[in-house]
Amino acid sequence: MFKNKAYISIGSNIPPRRKFIDEATKRLRRDSNIALIKRSSIYETCPNGSNFDIRKRFLNGVVEIETSLGPSDLMSRLLGIERSLGRTDSKRCLDRAIDLDILLYNDDIVSNGDVVIPHPRMHERDFVILPLMEVSPDTVHPVIKKRIRDIYNAREMKVFTSPQAAYNHLFSEKISGKRIGFVPTMGYLHEGHASLLRRARRENDLVVLSIFVNPTQFSAGEDYKRYPRDLKRDARVARKEGVDVIFHPSASDMYKKDNSTRVDVEGLSENLCGRYRPGHFRGVATVVAKLLNVIPADVAYFGQKDAQQAFIIKRMIRDLNMAVKIKILPTVREKDGLAMSSRNRYLSAAERREAPVGYRSLILARKMIEKGEKRSEKVIRSMKDFVHRNSNAKIQYILIVDKDTLKDVKTVKGAVLIAIAFYFGGTRLIDNMIVN
Ligand code: PAF
Repeated sequence: MFKNKAYISIGSNIPPRRKFIDEATKRLRRDSNIALIKRSSIYETCPNGSNFDIRKRFLNGVVEIETSLGPSDLMSRLLGIERSLGRTDSKRCLDRAIDLDILLYNDDIVSNGDVVIPHPRMHERDFVILPLMEVSPDTVHPVIKKRIRDIYNAREMKVFTSPQAAYNHLFSEKISGKRIGFVPTMGYLHEGHASLLRRARRENDLVVLSIFVNPTQFSAGEDYKRYPRDLKRDARVARKEGVDVIFHPSASDMYKKDNSTRVDVEGLSENLCGRYRPGHFRGVATVVAKLLNVIPADVAYFGQKDAQQAFIIKRMIRDLNMAVKIKILPTVREKDGLAMSSRNRYLSAAERREAPVGYRSLILARKMIEKGEKRSEKVIRSMKDFVHRNSNAKIQYILIVDKDTLKDVKTVKGAVLIAIAFYFGGTRLIDNMIVN
């Protein structure tokens, strides 16, 4: 809703402590510039630094908010709430009717006068850490995040355009014992790519990112020419995620004029997107095989959003005895459910608002199946009705297929892949869900 996320600690050690906390929370909620997202449970602790005194025990909790206010304005609102609840300020006195602090504000590190964020002593206080971890278990302290960024930034990130030079470098790294993680992309990186890079970073010694808009997977009339490209921006994301090597060849580096070898993964390529984009998966399989010959990866990472592509590549690796492990990671979505894609940037504001309709139709399908509906036709019809009722999207296909063979199933049993492709104007979006 609002673009800034913050975590506020709320404490009280003057009766009625719970009432003060609830009232402060209510006042935060009432502020039109603040949206209360989550609330932790309430913890009881001794006041810091004082002798144990049962009557002075604090109740503490943490709330997650979104806000349009900057750190200083947010701080003033908190002070206002403290005053309105009768807090009399004396720095030496440990008693607090209500104590509100900004723990974190986005990943910002702020130190201006009275506002210091992250809260300087939060890491020493169990009564802050425990409720914070409850509302946001993945939070990493911004100072640590910054340190990680600095470490990565200090490392040299190599960029190769020549396949031979990239191979020479990576092969020598490989024989020195480094485990190589590889994320192939067509660039214009978004959070979906970043999540693959992060996983690769965690699991390998060396992370390689390829950025190559592969001409052979676009047919005439598709968006090869206008596919978004921005190497500078991609390099910034890559650096932030700790990439060691970017491989960024040109089309002529990758394809000699008289190239004549193709990889066809039969059986998995004909249905779903393959029905409507003839030759697409031949282009994908061929380029991924070529990339994997240049990049001696131990593991390559793909997103589930392009499920058919990922399954085809897995099959190719198996069939051609290629020595790389494929990992398929979950689709990363915008807050409203839209699957992240470089093509989302083509959408107009109105189309963008409607675009999550694809994901919502998949949820509808899953619910129907969970309730016992087994007829694919019925589920598909409901999904189509839903999309038409709620958007101006043009459906290209909605199919329910067996997860292993990718062939249509009439009756849902075992694991199925439900997939949708739809257009907003000239923008084609896809999404899918595996339902057991
Ligand atoms: O998913 C993509 O971005 C591309 O299809 C891939 C796998 C990089 C091949 O060009």
